[in-house]
Amino acid sequence: MRIIVGVSGGIAAYKAAIVVSSLVQRGHQVQILMTEGAEKFIQPLTFEALSGRPVGVLVTDQPAGPISHVKLGKWAEVLVIVPATVGIMSRLALGQPTDLLSLTCMSYRGPVVIAPAMEPKMWLHPRTQEHVAKLAADDTQIVGPVAGRVASGDEGVGRLVDPEFLVRAIEHAPIPKALSGIQVLVTGGATWEHFDPVRAITNPATGRMGFEMAQEAAFLGARVIYVHGPRGADFGTLHPSVTSIPVVSARDMRHVVWDVVGSVSIVVATAAVSDFRPTASAKQKLHKSDIPGYWEVTANPDILADLGQEYGGKKFLVGFAAETDNVVASAQGKLEAKHLNVIVANPVGASLGFGNYEHHAQIIDKFGGNTAINEESKEISAQKIWKRLVELYGQEPYV
Ligand code: C5P
Repeated sequence: MRIIVGVSGGIAAYKAAIVVSSLVQRGHQVQILMTEGAEKFIQPLTFEALSGRPVGVLVTDQPAGPISHVKLGKWAEVLVIVPATVGIMSRLALGQPTDLLSLTCMSYRGPVVIAPAMEPKMWLHPRTQEHVAKLAADDTQIVGPVAGRVASGDEGVGRLVDPEFLVRAIEHAPIPKALSGIQVLVTGGATWEHFDPVRAITNPATGRMGFEMAQEAAFLGARVIYVHGPRGADFGTLHPSVTSIPVVSARDMRHVVWDVVGSVSIVVATAAVSDFRPTASAKQKLHKSDIPGYWEVTANPDILADLGQEYGGKKFLVGFAAETDNVVASAQGKLEAKHLNVIVANPVGASLGFGNYEHHAQIIDKFGGNTAINEESKEISAQKIWKRLVELYGQEPYV
């Protein structure tokens, strides 16, 4: 994509370099425009080196040739301001361009993403909030700020959002919000079935797929409830539209899923649920001398199969099937047995499938369609999977 990154003068300006570096590495063309205030915090040379293009600061600078603000306004597909200070936001909200960046903003029509960063008191000032509300009403996407420690040492809402999260927000800015108004439930991660407080039956699933499916649904406009095992949410900043509910065991997960499923239209079950649990679980840590020679296990509920029984044909149900052999045939069997609309089958093994390695999968739907995806990461896989799910969801009416 062709992206204008505007940098205004705040201490978080150095983080704009991380955003630009990441955008360039992900194949985007980036044109930087800085305010004079930003130049006090970070040199244009840094951005010039990262983006491979001359940086514009003054109205008289012409990084794209004569009348740069008009040319760049036509050139860009997305415009981002990172960090956005009180000053630049008020100039935009009031329509008072005095620098190359705000002039360019006014000659540009297209998605705008603004990532504010400032002292919490400045963020909460009524004028700032008024200007932010005005910009939001113009369809500007305001990403952050987030809570935490700010440069002065104070705590509060004012920190720039995590650069990696911002990059994703920028990439999603021009994509239609196909899941807007839709509630989605995602299960993710491995469950833990404790023998005692410090030992458990679990599996190597990291929870990455569920995290990415939840994030992508939120970026597509859905409200998401993400129910996950103990390590299922450790992959970065969660989208504010995702409500994360951590659980431990399969029975906990079933309980929460059952509580919330009534309000959702789509269920995506990526969780690697343990099929069985120790029948008995000790309250205290077992000592070596107490460990029995064998351990009786009990089957766990199959959460998705139960959902299929109750809601098959009424809600859009998506399963994931990690398989070591007969990948497609086994997954197809589960699609039918659990009354699903779609199953995403993927081969797993020692070096395949778990974590964020290359991700190969086949999206099998109940009409017999089969779409293969071979992606370099689960982040990209999640985008491709949702693209297909949105098409399939659109083919049938659901509550
Ligand atoms: O384990 P299995 O291959 O049958 O998993 C297929 C699908 O069923 C996955 O979507 C998984 O999240 C779900 N499942 C479940 N509860 C279980 C076992 C599996 O929800 N106890």
